[in-house]
Amino acid sequence: MDEKKKAKRDEVNPVGYHDGEHTKNVRDWKEVYDFLIDDSTLIPASPDPDCQELRTITNPWPENPSQFRVVCQEYAGEMEKLAFKLMEIICLSLGLPGGRLKGYFEEQTSFLRINHYPPCPFSDLTLGCGRHKDFDFLTVLAQDDVGGLEVKRNGKWVPVKPDPTALIINVGDICQVWSNERYKSAEHRAVVNGEKERYSIALFLVPSHHVMVKPLEELVSEKDPPKYLPYNWGKFYATRNRSDYKKQNVDNIQIHDFRVPN
Ligand code: OGA
Ligand code: NI
Repeated sequence: MDEKKKAKRDEVNPVGYHDGEHTKNVRDWKEVYDFLIDDSTLIPASPDPDCQELRTITNPWPENPSQFRVVCQEYAGEMEKLAFKLMEIICLSLGLPGGRLKGYFEEQTSFLRINHYPPCPFSDLTLGCGRHKDFDFLTVLAQDDVGGLEVKRNGKWVPVKPDPTALIINVGDICQVWSNERYKSAEHRAVVNGEKERYSIALFLVPSHHVMVKPLEELVSEKDPPKYLPYNWGKFYATRNRSDYKKQNVDNIQIHDFRVPN
């Protein structure tokens, strides 16, 4: 715990160790370590739409275990390659050139999250990670053999069979918006276990802070008008970060806030 605390995340630095994460204003039963793929990443200094100031965030690596940093970076490098390959395939599936989206990631804010879910004696009263959709383009998730991830299908929570040799790919909200809902992001959550601890590692593929996320021009027409108003990725991220620490009086920001009414 002493080492973890040295790498602690706070409301100023959104990466590092955190054990009080909130999902939709409810505290999760987990601890996380978040680190950026690009160890010097630009984000808006404030969620205020009128503030143009930027700041650089860097990973607060712990010194111990001594191999932690290099192992994390090596894993991140491989997952990043895979994520960009998947992005290319998604572009092709939408009838777009494979490299159509790459330019939005030149100053990517992509990060990895190591989730640790300790056993919980009252596992039916809490969640490891509350129901949510990932705010990114896509997520590559690895998990151990304990199980706990559930995905919403036809109104029901369906457990995902844990397989440590497989990777789970989640479609995120940005993919839903760019594709004008040809892809839909997947709602999911993680339940906790009464006896066993569980680990998972997620890569969140996210664009540069200055990108305005909106349905791609090639995918909209008079018949199929844009279903979302443009939103600035960095401002969305900065606004959401504020709600990771405490219960707020307002719902946290969601892509639904930019949805054009039918
Ligand atoms: C997440 C997430 C699920 C899991 O970190 O966004 O959904 O199985 N994790 O840990
Ligand atoms: Ni998730």
